[in-house]
Amino acid sequence: MKEIIDRLADVHTLSREEYRTLLTEMTAENEEYLALKAREIRHAIYGHDVFTRGLIEFTNYCKNDCYYCGIRKSNQHASRYRLTREEILSCCKNGYELGFRTFVLQGGEDGYYTDERLVQLVRIIHERYPDCAITLSIGERSKESYQRLYDAGASRYLLRHETANEAHYKRLHPSNLSLQNRKACLVHLKNIGYQVGCGFMVGSPGQTVDNLIEDLNYISSLQPHMVGIGPFIPHKDTSFANEKAGSLAMTLRLLSILRLMLPSVLLPATTALGTIHPMGREKGILAGANVVMPNLSPTDVRKKYMLYDNKICTGDEAAECRLCLSRRMEKIGYRLVVDRGDYRTCDL
Ligand code: 5AD
Ligand code: FES
Repeated sequence: MKEIIDRLADVHTLSREEYRTLLTEMTAENEEYLALKAREIRHAIYGHDVFTRGLIEFTNYCKNDCYYCGIRKSNQHASRYRLTREEILSCCKNGYELGFRTFVLQGGEDGYYTDERLVQLVRIIHERYPDCAITLSIGERSKESYQRLYDAGASRYLLRHETANEAHYKRLHPSNLSLQNRKACLVHLKNIGYQVGCGFMVGSPGQTVDNLIEDLNYISSLQPHMVGIGPFIPHKDTSFANEKAGSLAMTLRLLSILRLMLPSVLLPATTALGTIHPMGREKGILAGANVVMPNLSPTDVRKKYMLYDNKICTGDEAAECRLCLSRRMEKIGYRLVVDRGDYRTCDL
């Protein structure tokens, strides 16, 4: 097992069988070795810095009906909201003062947010905060729309592929959504010049080890700048209400594998990871992650952006997630930095 881990650290890719061994035959001792190698590479490129992204969940209206997601269109219990331009700009102002230099505008696929409205919004943020990066996470749009938003000043885009296996994609999504289109969006985004993030949920219903290997191979071929992974967590108002959540151990293992596959990748320790374990985000950083994405949304809407049950950072105590995370990171020997947190090229 150690030889396989060393090989992955050296050549950044493995055969399907080797990935399978890593994913299925892991012992506690090897788990620690895998994390150690992942941290070594992460320290060589990013030191002990942890990058932050201020997440602004600006709308929970969504025209899609993904079976896993709490804000899916058919969830009648979701209380819908949409932040106004002024509210979003006030999140940015607050975020800038707190030390954020990247804003992530995330939302459901909300028809109200036309290209015109979004372009105008992105342009204003870009003008007011020229030293900040603007990341969009607003789902599938046309190539032209992605281009217009890029021209307006957005430079990064998060669009999880969710699973790289056709049959599994169908198990998670209604038939009007396709893996093919998802992948095409990621290619368009990359070609336009965005820094692109893909990703998937760990332990989503029906996910097999083979599916995970396909995810890893797809990620290898796409060579994204960012990869977002977190455990699947059931939401009570979805078709998957009674499914099991993804495991902490498997998520951490995959974070370490991703760090070794893509040494420079921007890898968040996600809120979902922090939700399944009180120290989940710390453990994620110690497994090789280097980004955290605290919530910057107004506290009164946070409970409404419930993609899954029991999401953390939605109560009153969450007004200052940045401070909380900063303390948490210091306790494990890392520091939150005031920085755009750009991708660093390297030849490791
Ligand atoms: N559990 C965990 N992650 C989820 N997401 C959506 N629903 C869930 C859930 N129930 C993730 C998806 C999506 C991202 C914004 O949140 O991967 O791309
Ligand atoms: Fe949100 Fe701690 S990070 S409350």
